[in-house]
Amino acid sequence: MERNRRTWLLLLTAGTLSLGILFSCAQPQTRTETFSEEDLGLRHETLYDESTTVPAHGETTKKEPGESVRFERSFENSPPLIAHDITGMLPIEEDNICMGCHMPEEAVFSGATPVPTSHLVNLDTGAYLRGKLDGSRFNCMQCHVIQNILTPAVENIFKGEFRDEQGRYRSNLLNILNEGVETE
Ligand code: HEC
Ligand code: HEC
Repeated sequence: MERNRRTWLLLLTAGTLSLGILFSCAQPQTRTETFSEEDLGLRHETLYDESTTVPAHGETTKKEPGESVRFERSFENSPPLIAHDITGMLPIEEDNICMGCHMPEEAVFSGATPVPTSHLVNLDTGAYLRGKLDGSRFNCMQCHVIQNILTPAVENIFKGEFRDEQGRYRSNLLNILNEGVETE
């Protein structure tokens, strides 16, 4: 008799389940809440007209070189943010004012972080350029951006890991570039 009771129980459960499914199919859930296109996305503005849209560029730092505060690197060997005002230093054409303070021989006097050895080497051939900047590094602005104050639309919760505490404020890319690479 125990067996019969179990069968009944099974049938009952199956029946309830299928009834439930039928019911939910017959009664599609009605959503009353609607969203306009302006409500969607992060801009909260119309997507069809850009004429009044102001891009959020933030406020770049106004501190002079020598008086600015360097930020911690975002992650190991990331290009550091330019810590100071760069008004009057751009565009970088024949003259590169940045080099006037950041080349190792100048940095001794300016107190600037000297460009790292990776910038004084041709990374394709590995040749050290005897204190000369490699051409691929001439346009500093291609990789380095200035410190900026703005309210991000989405908070960045990324936290860089540093194997060496010094890496928070200095780079050592050239020393570790071949890490794990075996050469014959
Ligand atoms: C008058 C000298 C001077 C000039 C010109 C100059 N810098 Fe600097 N820079 C400094 C000093 C000094 C610091 C260190 C922070 C401080 O003391 O203000 C610095 C910091 C930096 C940093 C941060 C380094 C770190 O370790 O975090 C970067 C990147 C940088 N400068 C890039 C540039 C670029 C790119 C230009 C050209 C557009 C430039 N600098 C022009 C003096 C200068
Ligand atoms: C092609 C990209 C690129 C260009 C162009 C470039 N940099 Fe860098 N820079 C980096 C990266 C990546 C790092 C960190 C890793 C490393 O050391 O190479 C760095 C590091 C630095 C540092 C930190 C050095 C240290 O020891 O912590 C300074 C200062 C710097 N760059 C200045 C400059 C200046 C000034 C120019 C232009 C003359 C320039 N960079 C051009 C990518 C670039």
